Amino acid sequence: NLTLKQVLFHAWMEEHCPGVRFIFNGDDDVFVNTDNVVRFAMATQGAQEQHLMVGQLFTRNSPIRFQHSKYFVPTQLLASKWYPPYCGGGGILMSGFTAHVISRESRDIKIFPIDDVYLGMCLEKAGLRPASHNGIRTMGVGVPANTDPFDPCYYRELLLVHRFVPYEMVVMWQ
Ligand SMILES: *[C@@H]1O[C@H](CO)[C@@H](O)[C@H](O)[C@H]1NC(C)=O
Repeated sequence: NLTLKQVLFHAWMEEHCPGVRFIFNGDDDVFVNTDNVVRFAMATQGAQEQHLMVGQLFTRNSPIRFQHSKYFVPTQLLASKWYPPYCGGGGILMSGFTAHVISRESRDIKIFPIDDVYLGMCLEKAGLRPASHNGIRTMGVGVPANTDPFDPCYYRELLLVHRFVPYEMVVMWQ
């Protein structure tokens, strides 16, 4: 269903916001330092007509063949030992150009249950690569033990941090 949501979103976007410059695609439990995201997007001005996809990059991940995993993928579904390079779904920033590429490629790529990997498949088919952004921390920040995990100094230069429950999000914004 998450992949369906992505595919339908990209089809919806084609129709309703064809001129979009940038798209941020993320989970609802991430803290987004919106000023930094906008600053980064502005710095890549002109990139809206070029490929851009940044996030937490995975380049050598493999399908999990363990039946009881949430991410189980049988070989009947995908025989390949490797996933294509992809950005972790917790938070991805892309250009309008890349969003159009995904919506085009997704018409010919069979649905695959892991949504972020699916986006990687769309890029691979178009011959494009996702990139890493060091400010996108979908696996947390790694705040040192015995220090205040809400200390703004840890987040000042970041774009996104996963994950916070709602009350923590309020603390973060304060
Ligand atoms: C997927 O979405 C359909 C409705 O479109 C729903 O009936 C079904 O329960 C959902 N599946 C999961 C695993 O949430």
